[in-house]
Amino acid sequence: MENSKVLISAEEIKLKLAELGQQITNDYAGESLLMVGVLKGAFMVMADLARQVNLAVEFDFMAVSSYGAATQSSGVVRILKDLDQEIAGRNVLIVEDIVDSGLTLSYLTKSLRVRKPKSLEIAALLLKKDIQRVSIEVKYTGFEIGPEFVVGYGLDHAGKYRNLPHIAVMDTE
Ligand code: IMP
Ligand code: MG
Repeated sequence: MENSKVLISAEEIKLKLAELGQQITNDYAGESLLMVGVLKGAFMVMADLARQVNLAVEFDFMAVSSYGAATQSSGVVRILKDLDQEIAGRNVLIVEDIVDSGLTLSYLTKSLRVRKPKSLEIAALLLKKDIQRVSIEVKYTGFEIGPEFVVGYGLDHAGKYRNLPHIAVMDTE
């Protein structure tokens, strides 16, 4: 891809997810877990992280829209696809690709918490440092990065580059 450089390699991602998977396996020992992926960006981290988790795991997905095709958060979150199942009394782990303003996850956790899960935590591959405009607690974080716009490993720019095996910084000029 032109105008991009590798920020986090496929190998680094793999090692980090093994670490997070081990942590999740330990934290929920003896329990079952519902992993909720936020489409579309989280599909890769969901698939790779889940394979590092040794628990009785079930899966569900939500789709939200906060960006359109722009690279700046609009602050508007729409639920395009809700969960298929009830989460009352269950351990729910939301899996996200990246936390930027935190608006998406803040909205999501609020709307899931009222459904009374037994527990509700967040795993995010990337966290943009010092950017969060709303405070949310991300229990499992892969990497903290700067404010630059990144693509790859599920993350897109205008729908493209999700299939890159690494995280790249994109020059949006
Ligand atoms: P937030 O609501 O501002 O935290 O935005 C979160 C969502 O914005 C993520 O789930 C991504 O889909 C998208 N996003 C934020 N930053 C980036 C980026 O650097 N590259 C690609 N997508 C991003
Ligand atoms: Mg997303």
